[in-house]
Amino acid sequence: MDDLSRRGFLQSAAAVAAAGVLTPSVSSASTNRSASLSGPVVVSSANGLRATEKAASMIRDGADTLDAVIAGVNIVEEDPEDNSVGYGGLPNEDGVVELDSCVMHGPTCRAGAVAALRNIKTPSSVAKIVMERTDHVMIVGEGALRFARAHGFEEVNLLTDKARKIWLKWKEKHSDRDDWIPPEVPDDDTQSSALVDLPFSYGTINCCAVSPAGDLSGVTTTSGLSFKIPGRVGDSPIIGAGLYVDNTVGAAGSTGRGEAVIRTCGSHTVIEGMRHGLSPVEACLSALRRIVKTTTEKRLHRKDGRPKFDVKFYAVARDGRHGAAAIWSGAEYAVYSDGQNRLEPCAYLYEKPEEKE
Ligand code: GLY
Repeated sequence: MDDLSRRGFLQSAAAVAAAGVLTPSVSSASTNRSASLSGPVVVSSANGLRATEKAASMIRDGADTLDAVIAGVNIVEEDPEDNSVGYGGLPNEDGVVELDSCVMHGPTCRAGAVAALRNIKTPSSVAKIVMERTDHVMIVGEGALRFARAHGFEEVNLLTDKARKIWLKWKEKHSDRDDWIPPEVPDDDTQSSALVDLPFSYGTINCCAVSPAGDLSGVTTTSGLSFKIPGRVGDSPIIGAGLYVDNTVGAAGSTGRGEAVIRTCGSHTVIEGMRHGLSPVEACLSALRRIVKTTTEKRLHRKDGRPKFDVKFYAVARDGRHGAAAIWSGAEYAVYSDGQNRLEPCAYLYEKPEEKE
């Protein structure tokens, strides 16, 4: 059965509901509707509460939805305390921060992206200029840096001292077969110790908005997988993977393991689900089920066969309905609607187990 057929979607949703897989958080998220589009609706990953507030305020003041979501994520890109995005993001295995971002403007169906961009705090703003001032959609690496320089972006060292210390701990601890040795007396920087105990982090910010007129835009921006192979590009700058906007349907974006999202054209899959009649949250869950189904590598499976990683999708429909879903329980997303800015629970496929595997 083609699971992109409307019949397939309806059967699948009914089966899931009948099997009791739809948790209370799914049901509540799937009924999230703005009473009317009297104001903007903006969704973001949980690290984007300031982004949703800023974007909503700009749209209320008449700004274009793309300018609004970019201004929103710029706050997080410039925040040295967020180790997953922009300035202060965790570096690649060589200790160099490389940023990925893309933007998509619903009313004009246009898109722009940069990948593996070094030294520029706000890759989302560079992605918008790629969209507006070139005949291309994506520019990467050294070319992206030269392009940003040409447009007057300031170059800075994106590696904050905190991110450098986390990277150094990773470097000294991840192998006992190299020449990097941890200090005899560990420092008491508990925050970096906690972070480096995680094998990898995929933190990212996605932000999508719809205006009262029904115009949509979205942006995704990230420092990508921590300690990645230099030049590794995730889903965030790839149109259709980390972001997709269709002004007749809605906007969707992702965070989490980019490799899984790229292989399933994740955000485009969410939008196609909505186009075929699914609610935003049902479409997010459907795309996550496809990821689970297509993750065949044993090294990515827990003992029970479920994925070892997480992915989250966020979506807003043209009519203001919104939702988000994760593979694992416990996640939240930021949303501005009906004049309120808040975190709401994501729907999910699996209850997160208490014990560590
Ligand atoms: N989703 C962010 C990344 O994989 O780079």
